Amino acid sequence: MVNELTIVRPDDWHLHLRDEDFLPFTVNETAKSFARAIIMPNLVPPITNLIDARNYKQRIMKVLKTNLSFNPLMTLYLTEETNPREVKEGFVTGQISAIKLYPAGATTNSQSGVRNFEKIKPVLEVMAEIGCPLCIHGEVTDSSIDIFDRERVFINTVLEKIRTDHPTLKIVMEHITTKEAVDYVSSGNENLAATVTTHHLSINRNDLLSGGIRPHFYCLPVVKREVHRLALLEAVVSGSSKFFLGTDSAPHLDHDKESSCGCAGCFTATNTLEILAHIFEEQKALNKLELFTSINGAKFYGKNINTDKIKIVKKNKPTSFPEKISTPLGEITVFKPNFETKWQVQI
Ligand code: NCD
Ligand code: ZN
Repeated sequence: MVNELTIVRPDDWHLHLRDEDFLPFTVNETAKSFARAIIMPNLVPPITNLIDARNYKQRIMKVLKTNLSFNPLMTLYLTEETNPREVKEGFVTGQISAIKLYPAGATTNSQSGVRNFEKIKPVLEVMAEIGCPLCIHGEVTDSSIDIFDRERVFINTVLEKIRTDHPTLKIVMEHITTKEAVDYVSSGNENLAATVTTHHLSINRNDLLSGGIRPHFYCLPVVKREVHRLALLEAVVSGSSKFFLGTDSAPHLDHDKESSCGCAGCFTATNTLEILAHIFEEQKALNKLELFTSINGAKFYGKNINTDKIKIVKKNKPTSFPEKISTPLGEITVFKPNFETKWQVQI
């Protein structure tokens, strides 16, 4: 039985750090075990230009504990006004690593996102030319489409068209949740990949809704039926280079989640690797964990693979994690699936 695992230090290819009072907590929680992360730009107001991205990066680096090293990979929030020249300048100079596309209204702070996909064509053309990846929140926003179908419908009505119009554009379908998305990404060419979150591998919609509504399991895209969770699991343990970790760790204050209209987002930065080690072990695929957390994403993004390693050790009793992280603005509940893990990252 394997009870110790040494893997290349992981990266998180989809992370929300928020801003201001959240940063000292969110940044260091991730930096404890991750080397790099793609930083989501959905602040209020969003990060839509290089100056804001640079200032945001400085705020992140300012709170990083001196004993940790962490490289935040910045992104710009795509709007119908985004300037292709600015995207090119940002990407070729390494100031940004990707562009994020939110369909307007799809999720938290997405109001400034895209309504008319024709308007972003010039930006996508430049991105395809320079190799800049497009990270997509893949859900339609049409209120007549059932929320459980919004990812599937997005693939057929929006994503397929973007890929046909821009065949050489690198696309990451973010936080996929359905078997249809797994199949679509698997059958696509090398320019198409997907991130998978810790929580979508851990819970299904029964966990969210059966026997009481659990606001800390509510995220977008919303968790689906068990058959979809199993498809995600199969994809990540296959070792396919098209699937990699993007935790989508998305902190919200407890009073914003435990409310009559609760916010979407699960905070998984604290225990992601421990949960994943448990899941991969259950699937008898511990030897594929490193590909998912540390190799596939770096290769897709054209980045070097990290040179340092981390050790994850299996103890003989369940690992305990803080239930909540305290910030000056209030508490944030740490994601806790309905199973325990005995794995623990050695810091
Ligand atoms: C994210 C957030 O809170 O910013 N929420 C979520 O449920 N995943 C936004 C997002 O990635 O959709
Ligand atoms: Zn997200």
